[in-house]
Amino acid sequence: MTLPLDSMQQLASACAACRRCGLADGRLQVVVGRGNPRARLLLIGEAPGAQEDLEGLPFVGRSGQLLDRLLHSAGIDSNRDTYICNVVKCRPPDNRKPSAAELAACRPWLEQQIALLDAPLVLLVGATALQGVLGIKGGITSLRGQWRPWQGRWLMPILHPSYLLRNPSERPGSPKALTLDDLRQVRERLAQLPAPL
Ligand code: URA
Repeated sequence: MTLPLDSMQQLASACAACRRCGLADGRLQVVVGRGNPRARLLLIGEAPGAQEDLEGLPFVGRSGQLLDRLLHSAGIDSNRDTYICNVVKCRPPDNRKPSAAELAACRPWLEQQIALLDAPLVLLVGATALQGVLGIKGGITSLRGQWRPWQGRWLMPILHPSYLLRNPSERPGSPKALTLDDLRQVRERLAQLPAPL
C-alpha cells in the first residue's frame, strides 16, 4: 500500500492517528523515529518499550542507551549519522513481541519511512526486525554481521541490545564483542559511500 506522504513530519502526524491494530488502545503515543532524517544509515528495531512510549522516541531506555554507546564506540554518532525506528510503532503490552498481525498492520508505515529516508545502509536490530522486514524467522546469530542486497540498499542484521544487556561479557567472541565488530564494519561502509549529491 502506498501512502500519499512526502515528509517525515506528515508521516508522523498520520502515524499519530493510526488505529490499524489493537496496540493503539494501550499506547501513550506512537513512536515514529529519532535521529537525522538525512542519515545514510537506518536502524530498524522491534517496538517501543515503556520509556519509549513515555518519551515518544525509539531506543531511549536501557537498550537504547547501550545501542548508542556501542555505536559511539564504533565511531558512529546516533544523532548525526543514523535515523532509528522500529518495525512496530506502538508499545505491545508487557513488552511482549509484536504479533504477525501487528507487524503486518504497521508494515505500510515502515515502508513509507524506508522510502522517505532512502538510506543506502539499513541495520535490522534483532530477530523481530529480521522477521518483520525480511520475513525470516530465527537465525539471527548466524545472519548477523552479513551484508545482503535488498531493494537497492545494503542491509545487515545485528543482535538486539536487550540480548546484549542479558549477555554483558565483552571478551573476544562474546555477543557484545561481535556486535562491536559488526558496527565497525558498518562505520567502514558508511565512510566508503560516495558523497551525496
Ligand atoms: N527495543 C526496541 O526494539 N525498540 C525500542 O524502541 C526500544 C527497545
